[in-house]
Amino acid sequence: MIELRVNGRSHSISADPDTPLLYVLRDDLQLNAAKFGCGLGQCGSCTVLVDGAPTLSCVTPIMLLEGRQITTVEGLGTLEDPGPIQRAFIEEQSAQCGYCIPGMMMRAQALLQRNPRATDTEIREFLEPNLCRCGTHMRILRAVKRAASMMTGPDVTPSTHTPAAASTELDTSEVDSDSQRDRRHSEKRERPER
Ligand code: FES
Ligand code: FES
Repeated sequence: MIELRVNGRSHSISADPDTPLLYVLRDDLQLNAAKFGCGLGQCGSCTVLVDGAPTLSCVTPIMLLEGRQITTVEGLGTLEDPGPIQRAFIEEQSAQCGYCIPGMMMRAQALLQRNPRATDTEIREFLEPNLCRCGTHMRILRAVKRAASMMTGPDVTPSTHTPAAASTELDTSEVDSDSQRDRRHSEKRERPER
């Protein structure tokens, strides 16, 4: 049994410690915002925050996460009361197919909660690991800037640097991701519903 704290709530999870967080979020907790794209840590559609750092949940086993604070899009606001990032993405109509958007929102949240005065260049660089096949990048960029304005007010002078912490990623180096992938494939786990 592994205790996970997700969006401020504790959950006792009965699963193999090697299980990727993404599967637990979607299959056990019914938190379906984070998406299965590549399953290989290469597209960013599964991005969540772990202690505020953007983290690829498809390659992060739950055994690394006890005592950590996990945040998903569901933790940013509700349908009735969306948070700034969610409101901004809606108002800019950033989604085309929408598949990449939850990961984009979480990565943007990680940046803005450390540096709400991020410049265009800093936003572009920080969001680079997340892919959008539909090509809505300009709308996504506008949404992140709109969210920044909501958080800081419109008269913000952009900073010229990104704090080092903003580029911090969860260290999963102790995990043998190749063997994990082999194991996942051999288990023939069902691809989560999109
Ligand atoms: S699903 Fe592509 S990086 Fe996780
Ligand atoms: S909106 Fe379709 S992948 Fe980004």
